[in-house]
Amino acid sequence: RALLYNGIRIGQGYDIHQIRVSTDNDSTLSEDKYNGEENKGQCFKMLTMGGVKITGISVLSHSDGDVVYHALVDAILGALGSYDLGTLFPDRDEKYRDKSSSSFLRYARLLLYKSGYSIGNIDINVIAEVPKISPIRRDIVRNVSTTLRITESQISLKGKTHEKLDAVGEKRAIECFANVLLVPQN
Ligand code: CDP
Ligand code: ZN
Repeated sequence: RALLYNGIRIGQGYDIHQIRVSTDNDSTLSEDKYNGEENKGQCFKMLTMGGVKITGISVLSHSDGDVVYHALVDAILGALGSYDLGTLFPDRDEKYRDKSSSSFLRYARLLLYKSGYSIGNIDINVIAEVPKISPIRRDIVRNVSTTLRITESQISLKGKTHEKLDAVGEKRAIECFANVLLVPQN
């Protein structure tokens, strides 16, 4: 679809996934121990966030369940007025089982480039009691920067707890909001 307005464009993305936190005695569980429990094609697997593997936490998902990448892809697609992540890469499709979400992000980069845009800046907000974002921020920012081929100074990543309230506060889910500004290529 051709963009009717081709000035600066803003996009917003959101994602949430169920998680399970291992107790101290089973925090060393190997990756396949997380698997097994099926739920409409989804199962628990080791948590990946912004391309970083997190031991001791599992995520319920069909793909790798990366909330940071999913929110970010939806923000880019939204800015382009394109379809959303779930429509482009349906949960029901076997092709996307355990799929690394970095491929979705690479797809979004291709699409924005083809539409004549480049990224101005990105602001990501992770809402989670666990994991703490501060120790893994540099790694996630580096992954996003490499995958989207932008500088680290164009990326902001913040972590926030849900103050122990509701599912996120009870460590049963993690959420992510992403905002992106697209600027026309010169
Ligand atoms: O103090 P305030 O209510 O604004 O924030 P908080 O939710 O209590 O979190 C305190 C600080 O912990 C945040 O400002 C982040 O720097 C850090 N944090 C994090 O790194 N990762 C999270 N998942 C949650 C919080
Ligand atoms: Zn997701």
